[in-house]
Amino acid sequence: MRRKLAAGNWKMNGTAAALNELKAMKDAAKTQATDVLICPPATLISRASDTVSGSPIAIGGQDCHANASGAHTGDISGAMLADAGASYVITGHSERRVDHGETDAIVAAKSTAAYDNDLIAVICLGESLKQREAGETLAVIGTQLQGSTPDAATAANTVIAYEPVWAIGTGKVPTIAQIAEVHDFIRAELIKHFGEDANGIRILYGGSVKPSNATEIFAVENVDGALVGGASLKAADFNAIIAALDAS
Ligand code: PGA
Repeated sequence: MRRKLAAGNWKMNGTAAALNELKAMKDAAKTQATDVLICPPATLISRASDTVSGSPIAIGGQDCHANASGAHTGDISGAMLADAGASYVITGHSERRVDHGETDAIVAAKSTAAYDNDLIAVICLGESLKQREAGETLAVIGTQLQGSTPDAATAANTVIAYEPVWAIGTGKVPTIAQIAEVHDFIRAELIKHFGEDANGIRILYGGSVKPSNATEIFAVENVDGALVGGASLKAADFNAIIAALDAS
């Protein structure tokens, strides 16, 4: 009952030439069973929306400000993202939490701003290597989930992404058992807080997902797709990940 989602996060990568990769993703995107999302840098959102027009690929932002407008130099509001053609926004990515000091409360406020503009929030959670080694993973994830997810979250407006910080961009991936443990925990916590509707909330895994490991990760119960960084930059890689998700 949960639609699978393959989401690509281009981070601070890509100029106009990258739209050729998006075009190649569009040409391959025939699936209606799997949702596909690309979050390019903000400078490309409008052109990316034009590029994927008429295809099942959705476009999202990588961050938004919690406020609707105002004196916040360099920031982008949810309304601006929606106006540029975005239908999703990533909130609380670990790189934002670390580089920009974003707390759970800030992430929750940004997610609320997403809802206010009819954007689906992809709320990111993840433990550091130190926290994993100290046996704190579930406690950290539980705290982040509770603090970052607004009470207004529903299956329609929210996607959760579990991204262990130590697995992002490193080529290191948790074991299948570790992924399953955290995803089952997130599902149980969501149901505790939101009731049965939470069975419909998608939970993505993120961190060094590649064509070569996608199939085994997608076989895990409660893994409803992936949030992909590096391997979403090239159509050949991302299309292979979409195909693996489609086949799962
Ligand atoms: P990665 O990044 O796939 O390059 O590890 C994932 C992410 O940060 O969303």
